[in-house]
Amino acid sequence: MAGLTSSSIGRKYAMALSAMFLLIFLLMHLSTNMTSVFSEDVFNSASHFMGYNPAVQFLMQPILMFAVIFHFVMGFILEIRNNKARPIKYADNKGSANSTWMSRNMIISGAVILAFLALHFYDFWFPEMNFKYIEANTPDETRYWEELHHKFHDLWRVVLYVVAFGLLGLHLAHGFQSSFQSIGARHPKYTPVIKAFGNWYSILIPLGFIFIAVFHYVTQ
Ligand code: HEM
Repeated sequence: MAGLTSSSIGRKYAMALSAMFLLIFLLMHLSTNMTSVFSEDVFNSASHFMGYNPAVQFLMQPILMFAVIFHFVMGFILEIRNNKARPIKYADNKGSANSTWMSRNMIISGAVILAFLALHFYDFWFPEMNFKYIEANTPDETRYWEELHHKFHDLWRVVLYVVAFGLLGLHLAHGFQSSFQSIGARHPKYTPVIKAFGNWYSILIPLGFIFIAVFHYVTQ
């Protein structure tokens, strides 16, 4: 692990691996939450399973938390190092000619997603930990849908979530294909497919999350 993060190529590689893991998580998270639109019972069962299955709780969740923290810390470290590597902002550095606006602003979209996650944990994760481990309540398989639905009662929260999902889309639009490049997956035949898939992914995943938030708001 130390070897992976001690060289600049290693750091990019590790960053890409954590990104890929989070891309898979996002798809799973969207699928679970999308069930709340179609069936209260299915969402309750899925949430209960995730909340009490030991493999999910004590293996997958710690790995996920590590990946989230690693991705953000490494993102900031890479940004600082990149800035140090080019201390002079050349007058003729026409950024848009060399890179897209989004690729130059991954740190900004990343910081907004981090702020979103702080709110999101306050909304869902902390109450869940409190319910299970601090108050030590007996499991209740029927509560999850109602709790989620109630969260989207406030317009301000829905607006903040939707703005964050928009920036998530922009972050993914560059991050998806960039993570494949960083692990050296370049091929004349497959790179255009990866790019096209990444474009669809970065549109459909945030739109799915937006749909869930808006659905619960309008069906209050
Ligand atoms: C409308 C959209 C979303 C809904 C309804 C939603 C719902 C939830 C719920 C109910 C939990 C608590 C799970 C539990 O521990 O019992 C949770 C946790 C979490 N969410 Fe979301 N989420 C949404 C979007 C997102 C997005 C876009 C991200 C990432 C950028 C995200 C990242 C996380 C993470 C990292 C956790 C903690 C890990 C876990 O317990 O699974 N969520 N979310």
